[in-house]
Amino acid sequence: MSTQSLVLRHGKIEQPIFFAVADAIAPQEFLSEGEKKQLAGYQFAAKQQGFLLGRLAAKRALGALLEEPDLRQIEIRSGIYGQPLVRHPRAGGVEVSVSHSHGLAVALAYPAEYPTGIDLETVAAVAAATIIGELEASPPELTWLATGGVDDATACCVLWTAREALGKALRIGLNSPLGILALSGIRAESEGVWAGHYLNFPQCQFRSRVQGGRVLSLALPKEADLRELPRLNPH
Ligand SMILES: CC(C)(COP(=O)(O)OP(=O)(O)OC[C@H]1O[C@@H](n2cnc3c(N)ncnc32)[C@H](O)[C@@H]1OP(=O)(O)O)[C@@H](O)C(=O)NCCC(=O)NCCS
Repeated sequence: MSTQSLVLRHGKIEQPIFFAVADAIAPQEFLSEGEKKQLAGYQFAAKQQGFLLGRLAAKRALGALLEEPDLRQIEIRSGIYGQPLVRHPRAGGVEVSVSHSHGLAVALAYPAEYPTGIDLETVAAVAAATIIGELEASPPELTWLATGGVDDATACCVLWTAREALGKALRIGLNSPLGILALSGIRAESEGVWAGHYLNFPQCQFRSRVQGGRVLSLALPKEADLRELPRLNPH
């Protein structure tokens, strides 16, 4: 479990945002009464675990941003599209994005002025051939798949998670044809880090970090930038 403090820069404005990773479920004292009811409604243990890890990561990130040590005071409800909605006396203008994958959950708490989405995927869980068929890949993506020097499963994870991160930032999820969220201008930024834009959403950019068999992607406004990308294991 870790919480990282990051800085989002927009011109001369610097905004603190917080990233949290959860890999173990703490005692459930961090859940509000409403969240306990939501948890009880999930039939399968895997869904319950994902929900708990996701809520824990989200509340750690929000707790740091809102300076709220009692995580039960922060409530996260699900909106009509599944989007997380933050409830707290100081939560006006604060949002969170959550993802869980195979025993790990990540969350990013950020100011609502800068819509941001996050997605995590485990490379080993990906069947590249199936995913390539679903992506409705754009010409720039097909070129990158052929020439980017990344194995198919990892490359598909980048293309998938960057789409899902944008779907979350825009609050539409993945309920539209996936080609709408396609990438363009994909470039290597540093070792294991890919960056670029979205073909149909030129006001947004993505960053993807490939680390330890997982891919973590963020979608954020093009005009804003992160001083450093979150890490799954910062130490
Ligand atoms: C957004 C979506 C794709 C996330 O699904 P996922 O990959 O299974 O799960 P992740 O762990 O990465 O993310 C789940 C979290 O995303 C967040 N989320 C869900 N829908 C969201 C939306 N519309 N906007 C923003 N965030 C959303 C929630 O916080 C959720 O966690 P929670 O339910 O515990 O609060 C999914 O909810 C969705 O839109 N499904 C549409 C149908 C679909 O899956 N299509 C696939 C196309 S082939």
